[in-house]
Amino acid sequence: MEPFIYRDGTLFAEGVALSAIAARFGTPTYVYSRAHIEERYRAYADALAGMPHLVCFAVKANSNLAVLNLLARLGAGFDIVSRGELERVLAAGGDPARVVFSGVGKTREDMRRALEVGVHCFNVESDVELERLQEVAAELGVKAPVSLRVNPDVDAQTHPYISTGLKENKFGIDIEQAEEVYARAAELPNLEVLGIDCHIGSQLTTLSPFLDTLDRLLLLVDRLAARGIVIRHLDLGGGLGVRYRDEQPPAPGDYIAAVRERIEGRALALVFEPGRSIVANAGVLLTRVEYLKHTEHKDFAVIDAAMNDLIRPALYQAWMDVVPVTPHGGEVCSYDLVGPVCETGDFLAKDRELALVEGDLLAVRSAGAYGFVMSSNYNTRGRAAEVLVDGERMHLIRRRETIEDLYAGESLLPN
Ligand code: LLP
Repeated sequence: MEPFIYRDGTLFAEGVALSAIAARFGTPTYVYSRAHIEERYRAYADALAGMPHLVCFAVKANSNLAVLNLLARLGAGFDIVSRGELERVLAAGGDPARVVFSGVGKTREDMRRALEVGVHCFNVESDVELERLQEVAAELGVKAPVSLRVNPDVDAQTHPYISTGLKENKFGIDIEQAEEVYARAAELPNLEVLGIDCHIGSQLTTLSPFLDTLDRLLLLVDRLAARGIVIRHLDLGGGLGVRYRDEQPPAPGDYIAAVRERIEGRALALVFEPGRSIVANAGVLLTRVEYLKHTEHKDFAVIDAAMNDLIRPALYQAWMDVVPVTPHGGEVCSYDLVGPVCETGDFLAKDRELALVEGDLLAVRSAGAYGFVMSSNYNTRGRAAEVLVDGERMHLIRRRETIEDLYAGESLLPN
């Protein structure tokens, strides 16, 4: 379903006019659709029905408690990369037994807490992490369930900053060395080998890199079996792309069908860690035009959202669609949409043909993933509010930060 559609000349989120949300909660505000999130989660879960699986939502993509809670209610698991994300999952009612813990820099404290609450699996990213996990598990007198995150050296054909499966990336264990590291893991008394994990990158728009990776992982499963090491699950990570502009990413159902076909007859459970493909198109960033500044060379719309609210355009040159909430006539100009932050890189979009007047509301689309979560307080700007729409109802799920919030933890020097 498309949750953001025009009705009577104005843009709605499900059954609520975005203008009503702006009137009530101000701007900039992130707005999410409950129905869309649920539908996208179900696209994964339904395609996996009838076989052992976990759909572990990548918390980093959108970690608002209400969003996590919706997913937890549907039976989702969670992919986390920090103790902070673990505590969020618990606070949102998530089941720790459905949590996989990824990330290259787990501290001893992270490991201890995850073992205490009983996560499903640690996705171990190096030989040195493996030794550390053994020590921490031994101190607690428990066995830590592990997968090794292998780096299959596959080109995900995506932006270099979000490509993770190449040899030169910091992630995972080289697939050529993985057998030796598995042999070591199998020897360590406080570890239990559960699976193989990988994640090759994000915003992939074709299946072939995923399926090439899978083929390489299955060869590894067989080589390990020959050494008596039994792999019980494959974690294929996240990475399925979404449409920002005109991309045509595969549907989760088609991806999963292709994976199921290849693992047929094997006693393997499947784990996925989707983030973007569940929440990106469930969200918009609602912002208001403060000024229209026309110069000899350029037309600028200065809006009240900035790079601190949504950094994807500045950081990855990401193209995000921007649409007027209530389109009207008037002179169309080619605007650069820029924020109030003092950086040349502070833009959300460039060269957009729009008819604007001061005070207009705009919606930046596909902002539900890696939007709010990557926001900062640069220029002492409070972070945006977040609102979740459910049919005809709107819920404030994170209040706008106040200026006092921003320096509440700071103190002056003594006299
Ligand atoms: N699993 C692991 C281990 C990951 O590192 C990631 C994303 C995911 C799952 C979820 O991937 P997804 O399904 O969302 O593609 N900030 C960037 C994206 C960074 C992705 C980092 N890892 C952006 O705004 O495009």
